Order: sequence, then structure tokens, then C-alpha cells
Amino acid sequence: MQAKDFGDSFHWGVSSAAYQTEGAHNLDGKGLSIWDDFVRQKGKVYQNQHANVSCDFYHRYPEDIAILKTLGIKHFRFSISWSRIFPAGIGKVNQKGLDFYKKVIETCLAHDITPWITLYHWDLPLALSKRGGWMNRDIIRWFGEYVDLCSRKLGDRVKYWMVLNEPLVFTGAGYFLGIHAPGKQGLLPFLSTVHHAAMCQAEGGRILKSNCPDAEIGTTFSCTLVEPHQAVQRDIEASKRTDALLNRLFIEPSLGLGYPVDYFHALRRIEKYMRADDEVALKFDFDFIGLQNYTREIIRHSCFTPYIHARPVGAEQRNVPTNLMKWEVYPESIYQTLKLFYQRYSLDKIIITENGAAFDDAWHNGKIDDSQRQLYLKQYIAQCLRAKQEGVPLAGYFVWTLTDNFEWAEGYKPPFGLVHVDLTTQKRTIKESGQWYGRFIRKVQ
Ligand code: FCB
Repeated sequence: MQAKDFGDSFHWGVSSAAYQTEGAHNLDGKGLSIWDDFVRQKGKVYQNQHANVSCDFYHRYPEDIAILKTLGIKHFRFSISWSRIFPAGIGKVNQKGLDFYKKVIETCLAHDITPWITLYHWDLPLALSKRGGWMNRDIIRWFGEYVDLCSRKLGDRVKYWMVLNEPLVFTGAGYFLGIHAPGKQGLLPFLSTVHHAAMCQAEGGRILKSNCPDAEIGTTFSCTLVEPHQAVQRDIEASKRTDALLNRLFIEPSLGLGYPVDYFHALRRIEKYMRADDEVALKFDFDFIGLQNYTREIIRHSCFTPYIHARPVGAEQRNVPTNLMKWEVYPESIYQTLKLFYQRYSLDKIIITENGAAFDDAWHNGKIDDSQRQLYLKQYIAQCLRAKQEGVPLAGYFVWTLTDNFEWAEGYKPPFGLVHVDLTTQKRTIKESGQWYGRFIRKVQ
């Protein structure tokens, strides 16, 4: 396999996110986000770690962008921290925050690197969370103000935009399970946030399109290959419900198909949050769909799991290869997921906006030999090629992630980076996987 097999115009990149990398959590006028607050609560994050400094991308972005240049990585996906721009979520703009993103964008462009911006990667301004956050329908207006400002101020330099990052994860982990910020639990908080996030997904797309008519506008979805544990009716039904939740919930309303209530009846209660014209307002014709795949889930029926009556059979229990997240390493999952989304929805353009792996890194003679990560990337990329050669309109692939960073509730334990960061000295060391990815893609560019 060679990168040129994907074609000359294929976008090879890396992805990152503001809260996970920037640090500078309270500098230069930035307001706090729900993650700044969540990490202060004891027991929420592995060893009570936080990203107040993290890999200090806020100060070290020139160095990190220079690494991209060295490796020949020409596409860089990062997110904007909403509370860096609007410290209180709405109202007064923090010019220094805006200037920071302008500098990041200009540095990318000066190095011939294309910036891809995600507007929301989970760090809601704390001030808005205190007013109900995603559970409050006013978020459609608040988010609109934020998207409008970012696209007016940065739109002349940025072509590729993504409205949300993995809405299922921030609603599910943050408002149903309570394991991510803001730590809410329950079906009703979850369903209200799902609906408001799906409304913002479409509204954000419309605002971007009207302010930047030439931009390419996408949004990203977490997606997982879901398979039944056994070929019995109960497991098959359980896996269909899980698939509705994991793979259909946010894309279908944007395509005008409504929520997948027929597959997952508990979702019907979402209607409580819907108003007369919402079904139409949920639609937006995205220029591309970002899919993020890491693994697959094997699902069995379970009477004990409320609402969904399904539970995953863990990878460890199945005795299959895993990474440090305990996620099964199953390269074919990315192929199957690409085929599924293409066949189900006839999408015109798909980008893999995240894929990557957390493995322990071993130092040998001053180098980081992370052969497992390298093998993972090679195998998953090969499965992407297989899907592309079978007609899936795959136009790009982004590795999660450039530098080791703060992995949400897991803290710094699982490193995903192509580049190691010593959190005490902030020294960057390119891992063997990073060198490999650079050599691999340089052959086309
Ligand atoms: C995705 C997130 C990203 C990172 C990777 C490992 O779900 O979008 O921020 O945490 O997983």
C-alpha cells in the first residue's frame, strides 16, 4: 500500500482539540469551560489530572506546527475553545482569544498547512452550563452567536469547518453517564441535550454557509462497528438498538430522516423537546461527513441495562487484541463502518477525521519505538484503502493525534500521539510512528 493509491488530492492530516492540548486555561482573558470545572472535582479524572497546562499548545503552537511541516503533514484539524473567544459564553468578545486562533491559522498557512477547524470539541463555557448548558434550548442562539463570530472573523483564511465533534459522546458521557463534563446523569438530560445539539449541528452549518459560501462544511460523528454476540434474535435486536444509538442518532436528523426512534423506542421521549418546525430545522446538507472510528463493539441482550437492554461484551473478555483504552484493535471495523455509512446514506464525501491508538511507548537509545501504533495505523489505513477502492468517496484521513495529550477522564495515561511530550520539560520527541506517517504521506505530496 502506498499513499498515492489514495490519489493526489487525498487529505492526509492529524487532529487535535483545544481542551486536550492548549493549556493556558485561564490566561489572556479566557473564561472557564465545563472541563476546567470538572477536573477540579475530586475523583472525576484519573489521578485527578487536569489540562490546565497540558502540552501548552497555546504557547508552543509554532513548534508543533513546525513539526507538522517537518513530517510533511499538510492538514491540521484543531478546535476553538468557545470560552477563549466568549469568556461568558455570549456577549463580550475576548480579542486576545481571537488573536490566538488567527496566529495559529496564519502559522499553518505560512507553512503551507491547511487548517481544519472544529467549532465545538466538548468545552462548553462554564457560564452557559450554569444556565443549563446543552439542556437549555437557548443554546441554539448562544451557539449561533459563537459560530457567527468565528466564521466572520476567521472565515477568510479557513476553508474547512466542522460544527461539532462527536455529539453522541459529549451528550452520552456528559449528560447520561456523568463520566465527562458536566457530569449530569439521566435519560431526560440526555435527550434534551441530544435534541439541542442536533439543532445546533444544523444551525451551525447554516450560519457557516451564509458567512462563508465557499467553505467546505462538515461535522463529525463517532461511529463503531456493532455486531451481535450470537446469531440469536435477542442479540441481533440488541445490536440494532445499539447501532441506532451509536451510529444513527445524529446523522439521520441532519439528512431529514428524523431520529431513529423505530430502532430504539426509548428515544421517542425526545419529542417532548421538539417544537413544530424542528424537524425541518434539523436538516443541513453538509459538504462532507467526518467519521471517527477506533474499534467495534460486540453486543448482547441484557435485561439489566435500562432503556437499551443491551450491553457490550468487553474486548478483554473476548480475549482479542486491545489498546490501553481496552478498545479492541480490529482494523476491519473502519472498512465496515465506511461501507455502512456510504451504503446506508449515499454520502458524497467522507473524511476519516479521527483514527488512532493508545499504546505504551518504549524508549530505545533516545528513540520511541512504538511499533504497535505504527502497525495499527498501517492496518487501519489499508482498510480505508479497501473501502475507497470499492467506491466509498473517502477524501481524507486524520490521525488522532499529533502530540500526546489529556485524554479526558483517562487523564494522561493513554498516549495517542505521533509525538511524545515530556509534561515536565515540554520537550517534544517524534515517535517512530510519526516518522513512518511522515514518510508514508510524503511520497504523494
Ligand atoms: C475521540 C475524541 C478525541 C479523543 C479520541 C481518542 O472520541 O473525539 O477527543 O479523545 O477519541
